[in-house]
Amino acid sequence: MISTFAEKLGVGEFATGGLQLAVIGGLLAGARYFSDYFIAFLKKKTVVTAEFDSRDESYSWILNWLSEQPYSRRATQFSVSTTISRQGKPLTGEGIDSLLPAVYFLPAPGFHLFTYRNRLVWLSRERSQAVAGQNVNSLTERIQISTFGRSRHILQQLVFEAQKQFVERDQSRTVVFSADQYGAWRRTRSRPKRPLSSIVIPSHVKTHLIDDAKDFLSSEKWYSTRGIPYRRGYLLFGTPGSGKTSFVYSMAGELGLNIYVVNLSNKSLTDDTLSELVCETPSRCILLIEDVDAAFVQRTSMEGTKNNSVTFSGLLNSIDGVAAQEGRILCMTTNHIDRLDDALIRPGRIDVRVHFGNATQPQARELFVKFYPHMHSKYITALAQEFSVKVPNEKLSMAHLQGFLMKYKQYPEEAVNQVEDWINSQNKGSSTSTTEKEDIELLDATAPHAYDTPCIGTPTPIRSPSPPVL
Ligand SMILES: Nc1ncnc2c1ncn2[C@@H]1O[C@H](COP(=O)(O)OP(=O)(O)OP(=O)(O)O)[C@@H](O)[C@H]1O
Ligand SMILES: [Mg+2]
Repeated sequence: MISTFAEKLGVGEFATGGLQLAVIGGLLAGARYFSDYFIAFLKKKTVVTAEFDSRDESYSWILNWLSEQPYSRRATQFSVSTTISRQGKPLTGEGIDSLLPAVYFLPAPGFHLFTYRNRLVWLSRERSQAVAGQNVNSLTERIQISTFGRSRHILQQLVFEAQKQFVERDQSRTVVFSADQYGAWRRTRSRPKRPLSSIVIPSHVKTHLIDDAKDFLSSEKWYSTRGIPYRRGYLLFGTPGSGKTSFVYSMAGELGLNIYVVNLSNKSLTDDTLSELVCETPSRCILLIEDVDAAFVQRTSMEGTKNNSVTFSGLLNSIDGVAAQEGRILCMTTNHIDRLDDALIRPGRIDVRVHFGNATQPQARELFVKFYPHMHSKYITALAQEFSVKVPNEKLSMAHLQGFLMKYKQYPEEAVNQVEDWINSQNKGSSTSTTEKEDIELLDATAPHAYDTPCIGTPTPIRSPSPPVL
């Protein structure tokens, strides 16, 4: 037909061939276009699909859900993870299972077919391709779950089931979010709630802080009727390894809040992303800014320091600007309160300051007792007393003492016998500097006071900059 048409046009044999090829190509392209269109149309009418992106919280729900599915234990192409779900079973038969991290199996990237509530379901898991120079940790993942039908009910059910499983799992855990390179919060880990009793600081300080935070969380109306921004800030300052971060985690556990951690030295963080991040925190959470002194040394540093791109004013605006989330608890930690600008820790931004110091003898005693809860209490209390008098007051950090005691998990007597030699081999500790900031409440976590375990003998007097306001 084409050649007859070409003949009529009076074109040569060569051109006729070209015309034939062009027509066939056109027909094929058209058929392809229509078949793609038809397949997409058919898919839309017969298949429902739910999509999950690794940048979203729901991605963790679905991974957790998948790790619980029987298919994940059967799949021949599977990926192994140690962090997705605490409910997965550890490998058996190794003899030291309890010391190994739990292992979780998930369908590997690719295509998978399995059943959910007697329905055929297929899953595709894809990883974005790394481009040259890109950090592998920044790669995103996507999961699509599909099934036949026109109603999305079954997939919604799946999502709600996954969410419920995940939320229930989290009830006994503290979830930690950190900022990713896109300036969005990303769930980084969840850990079992740390009991407050495991933090060795005077019990009146713990009680005061927890009561203060609980009171804040239940006083939204009080703040709104007075037009006061509904926020509360705590500054935990003092020597390294004295329990500042640990305290924030156990406070989060006690209050049932999640923690959103900002690292100001993160180079990809700008004023804008910081402000967006703070704005995107949920209304009930703890926003934790660690080592806040490292990023801002002086107020004059209105420009970012050479290590990061967040400016001092950017930080101030983020934590109390109009966009800052209401109802959140801000916790900042620092080893050098004297390096902080007054504006950063003025009342309204920081409402309570807590001083953490090196281990006092009563703290050393309590830490010792907590290390051997399974042993006879009178015996351990006596050993703890012996141990604590050998520990120089406020010279070593709690982290140091914890590290030492960990070497003698089963041998408290050995710990007492060895502590002097160990102390001699240690560099002597440093003292904490404290700067008085008149208008802000100051608690001293090193003050001699009621400890959770009874004090035996006379507690050693402890340096205390000013009496705690309680
Ligand atoms: N007061 C304390 N009670 C119980 N454990 C403590 C205490 N202080 C420190 N530790 C232990 O020491 C380790 C380090 O504590 P943590 O990270 O909380 O210290 P930090 O004050 O935040 O230190 P840094 O200033 O270096 O960040 C933790 O494992 C924690 O269990
Ligand atoms: Mg810390």
